[in-house]
Amino acid sequence: MPDRTFVMVKPDGVQRGLVGEIVSRLEAKGLKLVAARFEKLPEQRVTEHYKEHLSKPFFPSMKEYIMSGPVFLMVWEGRNVAAIVRKVVGSTNPQEAAPGTIRGDFGIDIGRNVIHAADSPESAAREIGIHFKTTEVFDYKRIDESVLY
Ligand code: PPS
Repeated sequence: MPDRTFVMVKPDGVQRGLVGEIVSRLEAKGLKLVAARFEKLPEQRVTEHYKEHLSKPFFPSMKEYIMSGPVFLMVWEGRNVAAIVRKVVGSTNPQEAAPGTIRGDFGIDIGRNVIHAADSPESAAREIGIHFKTTEVFDYKRIDESVLY
């Protein structure tokens, strides 16, 4: 099974028109988009996705924010993809995220940090399973794979 990770453009990223920019950055890095869906998340999937954070003080406002508009859900493939995407995305708090990262370039507030990316291959597998059926994840070759790897 190739390395995969889960990425979500949050409602603020969608509403600010950043979906294309984010997809472009990940494609240009050499990663392969293998699944995508635009949707407003139901409460049960938000709770399941963020279940480690259910008891955190910010959870109710985070849930409200994530459900406030459509999100763009994706699965990306590539060698060591979870770690690579976390670097491209930058630190959770946009004020600490380095310039050149997605959050460093496009965010100011931790409560509106544009994008989510799974923090490990194990989290990625769990999150992909929450949001995608296996039939929604596609297998194809990037034309530049022999140059990239
Ligand atoms: S913790 O407490 O260290 O485990 O939390 P952290 O890893 O920093 O963040 C976990 C996710 O919660 C989001 N978060 C917030 N959302 C809204 N408001 C506030 N104040 C807030 N603080 C943390 C944070 O963005 C992480 O979600 P993802 O989707 O992974 O970015």
